[in-house]
Amino acid sequence: MSAQNENIVWHPNKVTGEDRARVLGQRGLVVWFTGLSGSGKSTIAVEVEKRLTDAGRAAYLLDGDNIRHGINSDLGFSDEDRNENIRRIGEIAALFRDAGIITLVSFISPFRRMRRFARERAGEGNFIEVYVSTDFETCRQRDPKGLYQKDIKNFTGKDSSYEAPENPEIVLDTVGHDPAECAEIVYQKIMEYLA
Ligand code: ADX
Repeated sequence: MSAQNENIVWHPNKVTGEDRARVLGQRGLVVWFTGLSGSGKSTIAVEVEKRLTDAGRAAYLLDGDNIRHGINSDLGFSDEDRNENIRRIGEIAALFRDAGIITLVSFISPFRRMRRFARERAGEGNFIEVYVSTDFETCRQRDPKGLYQKDIKNFTGKDSSYEAPENPEIVLDTVGHDPAECAEIVYQKIMEYLA
């Protein structure tokens, strides 16, 4: 992505990704959880973050509900605002990754185009897409935040669409598998990437 203004020139720095990896003893990755509201993304991501931290890895979770209280508090749920939400978070995740952090991202991120953007910003080989595939009916029945029973405009899966990933690195089926089991699958994949 290039700056809109021709007078903004990239300023090079002297520290490389390898330097940072040496300091931290790890390289950065983006682990991107996508799925419907209530699918279990954040519950699993929280477990993965804890598991990584317990194992002595530097990890950080960027969660949609939390980020929307801060840097993205100006955004709503129109397609345009969701795209901007994911554009910002794709950029932020790429920066965290560049800093050497295992960056867990938990956003509905309903549109393929923006998930592809996030993957490109992280760089191929640095991005693990985790599709939490819990179906609409199951999410509606679980309704952990009581949102499905409300009449919310532009709600994902109702009057706002969700485009399932075509080639995710991981698909998690939360029906019959508890969050700890799902987190273990993601943790093992992260370890494969870091090996
Ligand atoms: S995204 O589509 O732009 O990626 P994001 O992950 O940031 O969404 O936020 C989704 C969270 O906001 C949901 O988990 C839910 O708690 C809440 N929410 C509020 N309104 C909506 C809505 N219209 N559609 C989906 N989730 C909503």
